[in-house]
Amino acid sequence: MLSIRTEPRAHAAPRRISVLGATGSVGESTLDLIGRNAASYRVVALTGGRNASRLAELAIRHRAQLAVISDEHCYAELCAALAGTGIETASGNEALLDAAERPADWIMAAIVGVAGLQPTLRAVRQGTCTALANKECLVSAGAIFMAEVARHSTTLLPVDSEHSAALQVMRGAAPDEIEKVYLTASGGPFRSWTREAMAEARIEQALQHPNWSMGRKVTLDSATLMNKGLELLEAHHLFSLAPEQLDVLIHPQSMVHCLVYYRDGSVLAQMSCPDMRTPIAYSLAWPERMDVPTKRLDLAEAGTLTFEAPDPERFPALRLARQTLSAGRSAGTVFNAANEVAGEAFFEERIGFLAIVALVEATMDIAADLTALTPASVDDVLAIDAEARQRALSLLPRFASRR
Ligand SMILES: NC(=O)c1ccc[n+]([C@@H]2O[C@H](COP(=O)([O-])OP(=O)(O)OC[C@H]3O[C@@H](n4cnc5c(N)ncnc54)[C@H](OP(=O)(O)O)[C@@H]3O)[C@@H](O)[C@H]2O)c1
Repeated sequence: MLSIRTEPRAHAAPRRISVLGATGSVGESTLDLIGRNAASYRVVALTGGRNASRLAELAIRHRAQLAVISDEHCYAELCAALAGTGIETASGNEALLDAAERPADWIMAAIVGVAGLQPTLRAVRQGTCTALANKECLVSAGAIFMAEVARHSTTLLPVDSEHSAALQVMRGAAPDEIEKVYLTASGGPFRSWTREAMAEARIEQALQHPNWSMGRKVTLDSATLMNKGLELLEAHHLFSLAPEQLDVLIHPQSMVHCLVYYRDGSVLAQMSCPDMRTPIAYSLAWPERMDVPTKRLDLAEAGTLTFEAPDPERFPALRLARQTLSAGRSAGTVFNAANEVAGEAFFEERIGFLAIVALVEATMDIAADLTALTPASVDDVLAIDAEARQRALSLLPRFASRR
Protein backbone atom coordinates (compact mmCIF):
# COMPACT_ATOMS: atom_id res chain seq x y z
CA MET A 1 0.00 0.00 0.00
CA LEU A 2 1.22 3.49 -0.79
CA SER A 3 2.81 4.76 2.37
CA ILE A 4 2.65 8.51 2.67
CA ARG A 5 2.91 11.09 5.37
CA THR A 6 -0.41 12.43 6.57
CA GLU A 7 0.45 15.00 9.22
CA PRO A 8 -1.31 18.34 8.64
CA ARG A 9 0.76 20.89 6.78
CA ALA A 10 2.01 24.07 8.40
CA HIS A 11 0.19 27.00 6.79
CA ALA A 12 2.53 29.88 7.57
CA ALA A 13 4.38 30.64 4.32
CA PRO A 14 3.16 30.39 0.73
CA ARG A 15 3.96 26.93 -0.60
CA ARG A 16 6.62 26.72 -3.28
CA ILE A 17 5.12 25.07 -6.38
CA SER A 18 6.65 23.83 -9.63
CA VAL A 19 4.79 22.42 -12.62
CA LEU A 20 6.64 20.17 -15.06
CA GLY A 21 4.56 20.09 -18.23
CA ALA A 22 2.84 23.38 -17.41
CA THR A 23 1.65 23.93 -21.00
CA GLY A 24 -0.26 20.65 -21.15
CA SER A 25 -3.78 19.72 -20.15
CA VAL A 26 -2.90 18.66 -16.57
CA GLY A 27 -0.42 21.53 -16.23
CA GLU A 28 -3.06 24.10 -17.22
CA SER A 29 -5.65 22.59 -14.83
CA THR A 30 -3.07 22.71 -12.04
CA LEU A 31 -2.29 26.35 -12.69
CA ASP A 32 -6.00 27.14 -12.82
CA LEU A 33 -6.24 25.94 -9.20
CA ILE A 34 -3.06 27.77 -8.19
CA GLY A 35 -4.28 31.01 -9.76
CA ARG A 36 -7.53 30.93 -7.79
CA ASN A 37 -5.63 31.16 -4.54
CA ALA A 38 -2.44 32.86 -5.66
CA ALA A 39 -1.52 34.25 -2.23
CA SER A 40 -1.09 30.72 -0.89
CA TYR A 41 1.51 29.71 -3.45
CA ARG A 42 4.82 30.87 -4.86
CA VAL A 43 5.47 29.48 -8.32
CA VAL A 44 9.09 28.38 -8.64
CA ALA A 45 9.51 26.68 -12.02
CA LEU A 46 7.24 26.08 -14.99
CA THR A 47 8.34 23.90 -17.89
CA GLY A 48 7.07 23.23 -21.39
CA GLY A 49 8.14 21.14 -24.35
CA ARG A 50 7.69 23.37 -27.39
CA ASN A 51 4.89 25.80 -26.70
CA ALA A 52 7.05 28.80 -25.80
CA SER A 53 4.35 31.44 -26.19
CA ARG A 54 1.97 29.68 -23.82
CA LEU A 55 4.76 28.95 -21.35
CA ALA A 56 5.67 32.65 -21.31
CA GLU A 57 2.03 33.67 -20.73
CA LEU A 58 1.73 31.24 -17.84
CA ALA A 59 5.07 32.30 -16.33
CA ILE A 60 4.00 35.95 -16.39
CA ARG A 61 0.50 35.29 -15.05
CA HIS A 62 1.76 33.15 -12.18
CA ARG A 63 4.93 35.19 -11.54
CA ALA A 64 7.19 32.17 -11.93
CA GLN A 65 10.84 32.47 -10.99
CA LEU A 66 11.97 30.22 -13.83
CA ALA A 67 10.55 29.13 -17.21
CA VAL A 68 12.21 26.25 -19.04
CA ILE A 69 11.39 25.12 -22.54
CA SER A 70 12.83 21.72 -23.30
CA ASP A 71 13.12 22.11 -27.08
CA GLU A 72 16.10 24.37 -27.72
CA HIS A 73 14.64 25.54 -31.04
CA CYS A 74 11.92 27.31 -29.08
CA TYR A 75 14.25 29.12 -26.71
CA ALA A 76 14.60 32.36 -28.69
CA GLU A 77 10.81 32.73 -28.71
CA LEU A 78 10.65 32.19 -24.94
CA CYS A 79 13.42 34.71 -24.28
CA ALA A 80 11.75 37.32 -26.47
CA ALA A 81 8.39 36.83 -24.78
CA LEU A 82 9.87 37.10 -21.28
CA ALA A 83 12.38 39.90 -21.94
CA GLY A 84 12.23 42.54 -19.23
CA THR A 85 10.00 40.49 -16.90
CA GLY A 86 12.80 39.34 -14.58
CA ILE A 87 11.74 35.72 -15.07
CA GLU A 88 14.73 33.43 -15.56
CA THR A 89 14.70 31.36 -18.74
CA ALA A 90 16.54 28.24 -19.87
CA SER A 91 16.17 25.42 -22.38
CA GLY A 92 17.32 21.87 -23.06
CA ASN A 93 17.35 18.64 -21.11
CA GLU A 94 19.80 19.71 -18.42
CA ALA A 95 17.78 22.85 -17.79
CA LEU A 96 14.66 20.72 -17.45
CA LEU A 97 16.38 18.58 -14.82
CA ASP A 98 17.61 21.70 -13.02
CA ALA A 99 14.05 23.04 -12.94
CA ALA A 100 12.83 19.78 -11.42
CA GLU A 101 15.52 20.03 -8.75
CA ARG A 102 14.87 23.63 -7.81
CA PRO A 103 13.63 23.49 -4.21
CA ALA A 104 9.85 23.29 -4.06
CA ASP A 105 7.32 21.96 -1.55
CA TRP A 106 4.99 20.48 -4.19
CA ILE A 107 5.85 19.52 -7.75
CA MET A 108 3.36 18.49 -10.41
CA ALA A 109 4.89 15.88 -12.74
CA ALA A 110 2.78 16.28 -15.89
CA ILE A 111 5.19 15.80 -18.79
CA VAL A 112 3.74 13.24 -21.18
CA GLY A 113 5.54 9.98 -21.93
CA VAL A 114 8.82 8.52 -20.80
CA ALA A 115 10.37 11.93 -21.55
CA GLY A 116 9.07 12.77 -18.08
CA LEU A 117 10.94 10.00 -16.28
CA GLN A 118 14.21 11.75 -15.46
CA PRO A 119 12.71 15.14 -14.55
CA THR A 120 10.11 13.42 -12.36
CA LEU A 121 12.82 11.43 -10.59
CA ARG A 122 14.73 14.65 -9.91
CA ALA A 123 11.55 16.06 -8.39
CA VAL A 124 11.07 12.92 -6.30
CA ARG A 125 14.65 13.19 -4.99
CA GLN A 126 13.81 16.50 -3.35
CA GLY A 127 11.99 14.42 -0.74
CA THR A 128 9.01 16.78 -0.60
CA CYS A 129 5.71 16.15 -2.37
CA THR A 130 5.39 14.95 -5.96
CA ALA A 131 1.98 14.90 -7.61
CA LEU A 132 2.26 12.24 -10.28
CA ALA A 133 0.26 12.61 -13.49
CA ASN A 134 2.91 10.98 -15.68
CA LYS A 135 1.85 7.32 -15.51
CA GLU A 136 4.53 6.31 -18.02
CA CYS A 137 7.18 6.78 -15.27
CA LEU A 138 5.67 3.94 -13.28
CA VAL A 139 4.85 1.74 -16.27
CA SER A 140 8.37 1.99 -17.58
CA ALA A 141 10.45 2.12 -14.40
CA GLY A 142 8.02 1.15 -11.61
CA ALA A 143 10.32 -0.69 -9.20
CA ILE A 144 13.20 1.76 -9.54
CA PHE A 145 10.87 4.73 -9.31
CA MET A 146 9.12 3.49 -6.16
CA ALA A 147 12.48 2.66 -4.56
CA GLU A 148 13.55 6.29 -5.09
CA VAL A 149 10.27 7.48 -3.56
CA ALA A 150 10.94 5.35 -0.49
CA ARG A 151 14.62 6.30 -0.30
CA HIS A 152 13.81 10.01 -0.19
CA SER A 153 10.67 9.67 1.98
CA THR A 154 8.80 11.54 -0.72
CA THR A 155 5.07 12.01 -0.50
CA LEU A 156 3.93 10.63 -3.86
CA LEU A 157 0.33 11.47 -4.71
CA PRO A 158 -1.32 10.02 -7.80
CA VAL A 159 -3.17 12.45 -10.04
CA ASP A 160 -4.76 10.02 -12.48
CA SER A 161 -8.43 10.19 -11.50
CA GLU A 162 -8.72 6.44 -10.92
CA HIS A 163 -5.62 6.28 -8.75
CA SER A 164 -6.55 9.38 -6.82
CA ALA A 165 -9.91 7.70 -6.28
CA ALA A 166 -8.22 4.51 -5.11
CA LEU A 167 -6.09 6.47 -2.67
CA GLN A 168 -9.19 8.21 -1.34
CA VAL A 169 -11.14 5.02 -0.74
CA MET A 170 -8.17 3.02 0.59
CA ARG A 171 -6.90 5.78 2.85
CA GLY A 172 -6.16 4.27 6.23
CA ALA A 173 -6.87 0.71 5.11
CA ALA A 174 -4.49 -2.14 5.95
CA PRO A 175 -3.21 -4.01 2.87
CA ASP A 176 -4.85 -7.28 3.95
CA GLU A 177 -8.26 -5.60 4.09
CA ILE A 178 -8.31 -5.01 0.34
CA GLU A 179 -9.60 -7.79 -1.88
CA LYS A 180 -9.79 -6.16 -5.27
CA VAL A 181 -9.58 -2.79 -6.97
CA TYR A 182 -11.57 -1.96 -10.11
CA LEU A 183 -10.38 0.94 -12.22
CA THR A 184 -13.15 2.31 -14.39
CA ALA A 185 -12.80 3.28 -18.05
CA SER A 186 -15.24 5.26 -20.16
CA GLY A 187 -14.61 2.87 -23.05
CA GLY A 188 -13.52 5.78 -25.24
CA PRO A 189 -15.07 6.96 -28.49
CA PHE A 190 -15.10 3.46 -30.03
CA ARG A 191 -16.76 1.65 -27.13
CA SER A 192 -19.59 0.37 -29.32
CA TRP A 193 -17.73 0.24 -32.64
CA THR A 194 -17.01 -3.00 -34.49
CA ARG A 195 -13.39 -3.96 -35.26
CA GLU A 196 -14.17 -3.35 -38.95
CA ALA A 197 -15.26 0.21 -38.19
CA MET A 198 -12.29 0.79 -35.88
CA ALA A 199 -9.93 -0.30 -38.67
CA GLU A 200 -11.04 2.80 -40.58
CA ALA A 201 -11.00 5.19 -37.59
CA ARG A 202 -9.44 8.57 -38.30
CA ILE A 203 -7.29 10.69 -36.00
CA GLU A 204 -10.04 13.22 -35.27
CA GLN A 205 -12.43 10.40 -34.33
CA ALA A 206 -9.89 8.82 -31.99
CA LEU A 207 -9.41 12.21 -30.33
CA GLN A 208 -13.13 12.66 -29.58
CA HIS A 209 -13.15 11.48 -25.99
CA PRO A 210 -16.74 11.25 -24.75
CA ASN A 211 -16.15 12.73 -21.27
CA TRP A 212 -12.64 13.99 -20.60
CA SER A 213 -10.70 16.83 -22.19
CA MET A 214 -7.04 15.71 -22.19
CA GLY A 215 -3.79 15.83 -24.16
CA ARG A 216 -3.69 13.91 -27.43
CA LYS A 217 -1.57 10.93 -26.30
CA VAL A 218 -3.72 10.01 -23.32
CA THR A 219 -6.85 10.59 -25.43
CA LEU A 220 -5.60 8.18 -28.08
CA ASP A 221 -4.58 5.72 -25.35
CA SER A 222 -8.14 5.93 -24.05
CA ALA A 223 -9.51 5.05 -27.48
CA THR A 224 -7.37 1.89 -27.72
CA LEU A 225 -7.85 1.15 -23.97
CA MET A 226 -4.05 1.17 -23.72
CA ASN A 227 -4.56 3.92 -21.16
CA LYS A 228 -6.37 1.52 -18.86
CA GLY A 229 -3.64 -1.04 -19.45
CA LEU A 230 -1.01 1.52 -18.46
CA GLU A 231 -3.12 2.34 -15.43
CA LEU A 232 -3.21 -1.30 -14.29
CA LEU A 233 0.59 -1.25 -14.20
CA GLU A 234 0.55 2.15 -12.51
CA ALA A 235 -1.81 0.89 -9.78
CA HIS A 236 0.28 -2.25 -9.29
CA HIS A 237 3.37 -0.16 -8.50
CA LEU A 238 1.64 2.60 -6.55
CA PHE A 239 -0.38 0.42 -4.23
CA SER A 240 1.66 -2.83 -4.24
CA LEU A 241 -1.38 -4.72 -5.50
CA ALA A 242 -0.98 -8.16 -7.07
CA PRO A 243 -2.14 -8.55 -10.70
CA GLU A 244 -5.16 -10.62 -9.60
CA GLN A 245 -6.25 -7.81 -7.26
CA LEU A 246 -6.63 -5.40 -10.17
CA ASP A 247 -9.37 -5.25 -12.77
CA VAL A 248 -11.15 -2.90 -15.14
CA LEU A 249 -14.82 -2.04 -15.52
CA ILE A 250 -16.26 -0.05 -18.41
CA HIS A 251 -18.37 2.81 -17.05
CA PRO A 252 -19.37 5.13 -19.90
CA GLN A 253 -20.53 8.01 -17.66
CA SER A 254 -17.06 8.47 -16.02
CA MET A 255 -18.59 9.40 -12.68
CA VAL A 256 -17.36 6.48 -10.59
CA HIS A 257 -13.59 6.43 -10.91
CA CYS A 258 -12.61 3.42 -8.85
CA LEU A 259 -14.28 0.73 -6.74
CA VAL A 260 -12.46 -0.98 -3.91
CA TYR A 261 -13.74 -4.34 -2.68
CA TYR A 262 -12.93 -5.01 0.96
CA ARG A 263 -12.56 -8.50 2.41
CA ASP A 264 -15.88 -8.21 4.28
CA GLY A 265 -17.83 -7.67 1.06
CA SER A 266 -18.07 -3.88 1.36
CA VAL A 267 -17.43 -1.92 -1.80
CA LEU A 268 -16.24 1.68 -1.51
CA ALA A 269 -16.24 3.90 -4.56
CA GLN A 270 -15.18 7.46 -5.27
CA MET A 271 -17.34 9.61 -7.52
CA SER A 272 -17.12 13.06 -9.08
CA CYS A 273 -17.87 14.80 -12.35
CA PRO A 274 -15.09 14.13 -14.85
CA ASP A 275 -12.87 17.17 -14.29
CA MET A 276 -9.16 16.71 -13.59
CA ARG A 277 -9.16 19.64 -11.19
CA THR A 278 -10.76 17.38 -8.56
CA PRO A 279 -7.93 14.78 -8.37
CA ILE A 280 -5.31 17.50 -8.84
CA ALA A 281 -6.83 19.43 -5.93
CA TYR A 282 -6.76 16.30 -3.79
CA SER A 283 -3.00 16.09 -4.30
CA LEU A 284 -2.52 19.84 -3.85
CA ALA A 285 -4.46 20.07 -0.59
CA TRP A 286 -3.25 16.72 0.81
CA PRO A 287 -3.82 15.71 3.57
CA GLU A 288 -6.66 18.23 3.69
CA ARG A 289 -9.31 19.26 1.14
CA MET A 290 -9.73 22.52 -0.75
CA ASP A 291 -12.56 24.34 -2.50
CA VAL A 292 -12.75 23.44 -6.18
CA PRO A 293 -15.18 25.17 -8.55
CA THR A 294 -16.14 22.09 -10.56
CA LYS A 295 -19.63 21.03 -11.58
CA ARG A 296 -21.14 19.00 -8.77
CA LEU A 297 -22.33 15.50 -9.41
CA ASP A 298 -26.10 15.39 -9.83
CA LEU A 299 -27.12 11.74 -9.65
CA ALA A 300 -30.81 12.51 -10.18
CA GLU A 301 -29.87 14.27 -13.41
CA ALA A 302 -27.51 11.44 -14.39
CA GLY A 303 -30.34 8.97 -13.76
CA THR A 304 -28.59 5.75 -14.67
CA LEU A 305 -24.99 4.69 -14.16
CA THR A 306 -23.96 1.66 -16.16
CA PHE A 307 -21.09 -0.80 -15.93
CA GLU A 308 -19.94 -3.55 -18.24
CA ALA A 309 -16.97 -5.86 -18.63
CA PRO A 310 -14.44 -4.81 -21.28
CA ASP A 311 -14.63 -6.71 -24.56
CA PRO A 312 -11.26 -8.49 -24.98
CA GLU A 313 -11.88 -9.24 -28.65
CA ARG A 314 -12.42 -5.65 -29.72
CA PHE A 315 -9.95 -4.19 -27.20
CA PRO A 316 -6.95 -6.52 -26.89
CA ALA A 317 -4.87 -3.84 -25.13
CA LEU A 318 -6.02 -5.00 -21.72
CA ARG A 319 -4.96 -8.60 -22.33
CA LEU A 320 -1.57 -7.34 -23.41
CA ALA A 321 -1.29 -5.13 -20.34
CA ARG A 322 -2.14 -8.10 -18.10
CA GLN A 323 0.58 -10.19 -19.76
CA THR A 324 2.98 -7.30 -19.21
CA LEU A 325 1.97 -7.06 -15.58
CA SER A 326 2.54 -10.77 -15.02
CA ALA A 327 5.86 -10.76 -16.89
CA GLY A 328 7.32 -7.99 -14.69
CA ARG A 329 11.02 -7.13 -15.09
CA SER A 330 11.33 -4.90 -18.19
CA ALA A 331 8.06 -5.85 -19.84
CA GLY A 332 6.50 -2.52 -18.82
CA THR A 333 9.40 -0.59 -20.35
CA VAL A 334 8.98 -2.37 -23.68
CA PHE A 335 5.17 -2.15 -23.57
CA ASN A 336 5.29 1.59 -22.93
CA ALA A 337 7.99 2.33 -25.50
CA ALA A 338 6.19 0.37 -28.22
CA ASN A 339 2.93 2.12 -27.39
CA GLU A 340 4.57 5.54 -27.66
CA VAL A 341 6.03 4.62 -31.06
CA ALA A 342 2.74 3.15 -32.27
CA GLY A 343 0.72 6.17 -31.13
CA GLU A 344 3.08 8.58 -32.92
CA ALA A 345 2.93 6.41 -36.04
CA PHE A 346 -0.88 6.65 -35.96
CA PHE A 347 -0.72 10.43 -35.57
CA GLU A 348 1.68 10.53 -38.54
CA GLU A 349 -0.86 8.41 -40.49
CA ARG A 350 1.71 5.67 -41.05
CA ILE A 351 -0.49 3.01 -39.48
CA GLY A 352 -4.20 2.55 -38.89
CA PHE A 353 -5.96 2.53 -35.54
CA LEU A 354 -6.03 -1.25 -35.03
CA ALA A 355 -2.35 -1.50 -35.86
CA ILE A 356 -1.47 0.46 -32.71
CA VAL A 357 -2.07 -2.43 -30.33
CA ALA A 358 -0.98 -4.99 -32.93
CA LEU A 359 2.36 -3.21 -33.25
CA VAL A 360 2.81 -3.19 -29.47
CA GLU A 361 2.08 -6.91 -29.33
CA ALA A 362 4.47 -7.69 -32.19
CA THR A 363 7.18 -5.66 -30.49
CA MET A 364 6.67 -7.58 -27.25
CA ASP A 365 6.93 -10.81 -29.26
CA ILE A 366 10.31 -9.95 -30.78
CA ALA A 367 11.67 -8.38 -27.60
CA ALA A 368 11.61 -11.34 -25.20
CA ASP A 369 15.34 -10.80 -24.63
CA LEU A 370 14.61 -7.23 -23.51
CA THR A 371 11.54 -7.93 -21.39
CA ALA A 372 13.51 -10.57 -19.44
CA LEU A 373 16.10 -8.01 -18.30
CA THR A 374 16.04 -6.66 -14.77
CA PRO A 375 17.14 -3.03 -14.89
CA ALA A 376 19.43 -1.92 -12.09
CA SER A 377 19.23 1.80 -12.82
CA VAL A 378 17.32 4.47 -14.71
CA ASP A 379 20.04 4.36 -17.36
CA ASP A 380 19.25 0.67 -17.86
CA VAL A 381 15.55 1.50 -18.23
CA LEU A 382 16.30 4.21 -20.79
CA ALA A 383 18.61 1.88 -22.75
CA ILE A 384 15.89 -0.79 -22.87
CA ASP A 385 13.34 1.87 -23.83
CA ALA A 386 15.57 3.05 -26.69
CA GLU A 387 16.14 -0.48 -27.99
CA ALA A 388 12.41 -1.30 -27.75
CA ARG A 389 11.63 1.84 -29.78
CA GLN A 390 14.08 0.72 -32.48
CA ARG A 391 12.43 -2.68 -32.64
CA ALA A 392 8.94 -1.16 -32.84
CA LEU A 393 10.11 1.19 -35.60
CA SER A 394 11.63 -1.75 -37.49
CA LEU A 395 8.20 -3.42 -37.48
CA LEU A 396 6.33 -0.39 -38.76
CA PRO A 397 6.50 -1.33 -42.47
CA ARG A 398 4.75 -4.60 -41.66
CA PHE A 399 1.74 -2.68 -40.32
CA ALA A 400 1.82 0.26 -42.68
CA SER A 401 -0.72 -1.12 -45.11
CA ARG A 402 -3.22 -2.36 -42.52
CA ARG A 403 -5.68 0.54 -42.70
N1 LIG B 1 -4.90 15.16 -19.41
C1 LIG B 1 -5.47 14.44 -18.47
O1 LIG B 1 -6.63 14.68 -18.12
C2 LIG B 1 -4.72 13.34 -17.78
C3 LIG B 1 -5.38 12.54 -16.86
C4 LIG B 1 -4.67 11.57 -16.19
C5 LIG B 1 -3.31 11.38 -16.44
N2 LIG B 1 -2.71 12.15 -17.38
C6 LIG B 1 -1.29 11.92 -17.63
O2 LIG B 1 -0.59 13.15 -17.42
C7 LIG B 1 0.48 13.27 -18.34
C8 LIG B 1 0.30 14.56 -19.11
O3 LIG B 1 -0.89 14.45 -19.86
P1 LIG B 1 -1.53 15.71 -20.59
O4 LIG B 1 -2.83 15.23 -21.11
O5 LIG B 1 -1.49 16.90 -19.72
O6 LIG B 1 -0.51 15.87 -21.83
P2 LIG B 1 -0.36 17.10 -22.80
O7 LIG B 1 -1.54 17.97 -22.76
O8 LIG B 1 0.07 16.55 -24.11
O9 LIG B 1 0.86 17.91 -22.14
C9 LIG B 1 2.13 17.33 -22.04
C10 LIG B 1 3.11 18.31 -21.44
O10 LIG B 1 4.42 17.73 -21.56
C11 LIG B 1 5.26 18.63 -22.31
N3 LIG B 1 6.19 17.81 -23.09
C12 LIG B 1 5.91 17.01 -24.13
N4 LIG B 1 7.03 16.40 -24.57
C13 LIG B 1 8.03 16.84 -23.78
C14 LIG B 1 9.43 16.59 -23.74
N5 LIG B 1 10.02 15.76 -24.60
N6 LIG B 1 10.16 17.22 -22.80
C15 LIG B 1 9.59 18.07 -21.92
N7 LIG B 1 8.27 18.35 -21.92
C16 LIG B 1 7.50 17.74 -22.84
C17 LIG B 1 4.31 19.41 -23.17
O11 LIG B 1 4.90 20.62 -23.60
P3 LIG B 1 4.39 21.44 -24.93
O12 LIG B 1 2.91 21.31 -25.00
O13 LIG B 1 4.87 22.82 -24.63
O14 LIG B 1 5.09 20.84 -26.11
C18 LIG B 1 3.18 19.65 -22.16
O15 LIG B 1 3.54 20.65 -21.25
C19 LIG B 1 0.44 12.01 -19.21
O16 LIG B 1 1.33 11.07 -18.69
C20 LIG B 1 -0.98 11.52 -19.06
O17 LIG B 1 -1.11 10.13 -19.22
C21 LIG B 1 -3.38 13.12 -18.04
